[in-house]
Amino acid sequence: MKMTRRLALAAMLAAPLAAAPAMAQTQITVQHALPANSHTGVGASTFAEAFQRLTNGRYRVVAQRNDNEREMIESVQIGTIDCTFTSTGPVGNFVPEVRVFDVPFLFRDAAHARGVLDSEIGQQVLSRFQARGLVGVIWIENGFRNLTNSRREVNTPADVRGLKIRTMENQVHMRAFTQLGALPTPMAFSELVPALQQGTVDGQENPISVIVANNLNQVQRFMTLTRHVYSPQVMICNPQTVGRLNAADRALFQQAAVEAQRANRARVTADDEAGVAELRRRGMTVVTEVDTAAFQAALAPAFAEWERTLDAATLRRIREWR
Ligand code: PAF
Repeated sequence: MKMTRRLALAAMLAAPLAAAPAMAQTQITVQHALPANSHTGVGASTFAEAFQRLTNGRYRVVAQRNDNEREMIESVQIGTIDCTFTSTGPVGNFVPEVRVFDVPFLFRDAAHARGVLDSEIGQQVLSRFQARGLVGVIWIENGFRNLTNSRREVNTPADVRGLKIRTMENQVHMRAFTQLGALPTPMAFSELVPALQQGTVDGQENPISVIVANNLNQVQRFMTLTRHVYSPQVMICNPQTVGRLNAADRALFQQAAVEAQRANRARVTADDEAGVAELRRRGMTVVTEVDTAAFQAALAPAFAEWERTLDAATLRRIREWR
């Protein structure tokens, strides 16, 4: 009797599967850092919804969270996941040409950054991914990064001296913080909150959208709107995943990526507008008046070095872009 009931239950559970329509559906897995309700989550879910809709459900896109961006890029490269939405943080270790976009104070504002990335300059850098076994699909973004810490208010470059700052695994950012006299400590975002809680690092730097979405106010008291560097994100896919799409589906894939870009940028703009008030409401001390020229002057030797070690012609084109 017991066995019969178990068999009946098993038959009931199996029934919906057996009755499902036999539609060939290809699954695409997209990983992104941060919660679903964040600018990256919204980008990934918009892409998923758009590509499924545009292909009438022939594709199913599964969006997953992973706060280790280097790991996601490696997984795309070896093909264990299809695509990732990642900041450029660790990307320069795979595609060095991307590093020009990581230079501090390069972009004047969001319009400048978005314009450059969508122009031939950004497209040229995307085309470099192929040689590294990756496909650069489209630029999205994190926004401008700001400094937070648990020790003191940062008003001048001198206040940064001696602070242990978690940075992304990014040579350009680490060089900048060394120049300011901080102790840059690179680590994946997944390790950040425990490192702040245990005092392994005093601070970190991220855009308002990230600070709000991850409640970093719970582990950081001070924020300064340094806007010291624009933080692009990029959608990267495995070449075989993209290669399997026929020409028509490939165009729909790109169309879905453009919808994701729009949703992601709109969310970053909204988060930037509301974020300072929200973080103050949550108890953070926020310094909004920043002497940007003083920070730029303090970075002068690093700027001179990047002129030599990065693509100086592209840096000039970006600065002159109108
Ligand atoms: O700080 C980082 O590692 C990145 O900005 C994050 C939060 C993973 C978003 O791309």
